[in-house]
Amino acid sequence: MAVAGDSGTGPLRLPRIDLPRAIHQRPEDRERGPKFPIWSWHHGCVTDQQARYDRIADGYATWWAPVHRPATLQLVDLLGELPRTASRRLLDVGCGTGAFAAAVAHAWPGTQVDAVDVSAGMLEVARRELAGLPADIRRRIHLNQAPGDALPFPDGTFDVVASAFVIQLVPSRFRALREMRRVLRPGGRLAIAAWLRAEEPFPADEAYDAALLAAGEVPRSGGGDHDDVASASELEAVLRRAGFSRPKARIDALVHAFTPESYLEFLARFDDEDLLSSMQPEARASLEADLLARLRALGPAGLRMVLPTVFAAAVRR
Ligand SMILES: C[S@@+](CC[C@H](N)C(=O)[O-])C[C@H]1O[C@@H](n2cnc3c(N)ncnc32)[C@H](O)[C@@H]1O
Repeated sequence: MAVAGDSGTGPLRLPRIDLPRAIHQRPEDRERGPKFPIWSWHHGCVTDQQARYDRIADGYATWWAPVHRPATLQLVDLLGELPRTASRRLLDVGCGTGAFAAAVAHAWPGTQVDAVDVSAGMLEVARRELAGLPADIRRRIHLNQAPGDALPFPDGTFDVVASAFVIQLVPSRFRALREMRRVLRPGGRLAIAAWLRAEEPFPADEAYDAALLAAGEVPRSGGGDHDDVASASELEAVLRRAGFSRPKARIDALVHAFTPESYLEFLARFDDEDLLSSMQPEARASLEADLLARLRALGPAGLRMVLPTVFAAAVRR
């Protein structure tokens, strides 16, 4: 386990996972085609993510959120290690489908959970998902549309601010963390989960690129993870700079085993739905058959996706 940072808080006790070789380029980072030129009340980068998540909300909820949910829910375990008071307000920044908000409201009876997301489409998905919760949990979760760097709450509102897999998407990581600090009370806790930058490709993605090339299509561009956190110590440094003390970050990994069929479904229904749905049926059938043959040849090891993650906790100065 890689742990770096100031001494002063106890070690975070997430399970150690050694990092295997295969690394996936996450679909939320991948963009095919031109970006949407839409009007927005906020600046360009946020507009882009807002439009993008509006567009992919349903596919994301069905085909990607369940894959990374185990890592998102690890943030609840991390919060469980923080000291708590009886009446607590918690903010979830970039709530997506609301999986974390639901889990923390369940784990912490009596806590009010405010959840914000920049995308109305994602909030609609969250509303749907949360509707099935028991009433005593549902009524403690409040959803708001807002960007992470302009939170609609007065200074010092929250005891805890948490954010899972969002800081790679915000226009300025520093500004978003400063804003999270602003809405925390002095002594309040911050908990962050983020993707860690990794260079190694995921063999299944490479097989898809090879199948695209063989079909006369353009392979996907790659390199979508350039805004990921580079290291545990880099995250600790930006947390200190943003006004947090005792930051502790540690590395972990999310592992997901695809089958050839589930990887194809994931591509066809979400990750590269744009391309596959627009192909002529014959060309698409031939591409898919070629891809399935390549994926089967990889065997289980080549279909094992490993995404390095970093979890950090800090205290608001
Ligand atoms: C990868 S998802 C993670 C969702 C959720 N936290 C989870 O772990 O399941 C990223 C979420 O961040 C939201 N997002 C992207 N940019 C944002 C911004 N600038 N401010 C707030 N939310 C943002 C997206 O709409 C999306 O719902």
